[in-house]
Amino acid sequence: MKIAVFGLGYVGCVSLGCLAEYGHTVIGVDINEYKVSQINSGVPTIIEKDIDELIRKHTATGRIKATTDYLNAVNESDVAFICVGTPSTVTGQLDMTHIFNSAEQIAEGIRSRDSFYTVVIRSTVMPGTNNRISELMEQISGLRRNIDFSVVSNPEFLREGSAVSDFFNPPYTVIGTDDRNAFRIMEEIYSPTGKPVIQTDIGVAEMIKYVNNSFHALKIAFANEVGVIAKKTGVDSLKLMDLFVKDEKLNISPAYLKPGMAYGGSCLPKDLKGLFTIAYDNYLDTPLLKSIGESNAIHLDRAFELVEKHRSKKIGVIGLAFKKGTDDLRHSPAVELVEKLSGKGYDVKIYDKNVVISKLLGANKSYIEERLPHVSGLLASSLLEVIDHSETVVLVHKLFEMTGMKDRLKDKNVIDLAGYPEFRELPNYEGIAW
Ligand SMILES: NC(=O)c1ccc[n+]([C@@H]2O[C@H](COP(=O)([O-])OP(=O)(O)OC[C@H]3O[C@@H](n4cnc5c(N)ncnc54)[C@H](O)[C@@H]3O)[C@@H](O)[C@H]2O)c1
Repeated sequence: MKIAVFGLGYVGCVSLGCLAEYGHTVIGVDINEYKVSQINSGVPTIIEKDIDELIRKHTATGRIKATTDYLNAVNESDVAFICVGTPSTVTGQLDMTHIFNSAEQIAEGIRSRDSFYTVVIRSTVMPGTNNRISELMEQISGLRRNIDFSVVSNPEFLREGSAVSDFFNPPYTVIGTDDRNAFRIMEEIYSPTGKPVIQTDIGVAEMIKYVNNSFHALKIAFANEVGVIAKKTGVDSLKLMDLFVKDEKLNISPAYLKPGMAYGGSCLPKDLKGLFTIAYDNYLDTPLLKSIGESNAIHLDRAFELVEKHRSKKIGVIGLAFKKGTDDLRHSPAVELVEKLSGKGYDVKIYDKNVVISKLLGANKSYIEERLPHVSGLLASSLLEVIDHSETVVLVHKLFEMTGMKDRLKDKNVIDLAGYPEFRELPNYEGIAW
């Protein structure tokens, strides 16, 4: 494949060397003449393990060259990787000037082209950029998106210091596109990785880099807060976290990583508060731990606001316990939701087959008697009774019994806090985070 790489900085230089190693013919483009001349002399523009050898080797084989002449680079290629910088502005947004400049240059270059051209956004960009670039390119080139050219989003997951090895051993390659043809071209480019090349929504591809890096930052801050609390209490934090990461069922795993209802129950809120209290009692500032409960409360408020906005009187709540499959009502977010709705005068009916008030015992019984003393009058014995009663149905638990209820829900407002993809096309459906 013949590939132009726009931007010969960190990402562009690594892409240049690694794509050439995969057998592609690569032409680097930069506005900086010094960087261009360095590449043409076989010298990388960055310090990075193993990149020197790749740039040296492939300028010698003729698979790598560089230029400031972007029109010529587009002419000589079928694909352009945009790897230009997107620095942060003072207000925290990304400065997209370079991205749009290179898109304009590529559009100019393909104006009189008679074969398909693929533009690959490698830089980290805001969701919506792919679409804006496609529109801009249509205007400038006079060509049609997904017919004459395509813009795909292919975010970069390399870590400085091991970027070459990360390029050759990615967990997967993400391609955001709605064009099969462009996807096939990208599959061909990346086939030597031997790792999955995943086609996904453009928005997902644009956002995943932000989510990944925010999660990595969250992990570091969490480990550091745990570390200082452990140190203060005489616990070896390195041993503690070594053990923590060995739990691949709940800790280092996909568990708890899908958006949905707020958390609750007798353990998460209590133990989080317990850890935070140890920090507080030891005069340790742990803002991350503090913010978790706050974030959860705000999320529950969102659920309430979704229900309120319909201004309907009759509400059905499907699921009351803190999670499905239990009758534990302690600190259940659904109990809080119902408490708030009842307090505001809504006519609420609840379905939760596991909750039989007469069978509740101990702390669970006391909790519900204190929070929702009139709960027995709200609980219905059948799912249909609740749905038929309601103008708005709030789905808290994901239940097998809901299968086949789509027709019955079509005249209702449906607030989905659990994740029912099959109800998404209903006219008055809204998910809490999707
Ligand atoms: N550095 C990283 O580790 C890393 C990792 C993943 C993603 N990213 C993202 O990749 C993008 C590039 O990052 P970087 O660190 O390589 O940036 P960089 O600043 O090192 O390099 C950008 C290059 O683009 C060139 N340039 C600007 N406008 C141009 C144009 N119109 N045509 C050709 N060249 C042009 C600049 O002269 C510069 O050489 C950013 O969006 C960044 O967020 C960076």
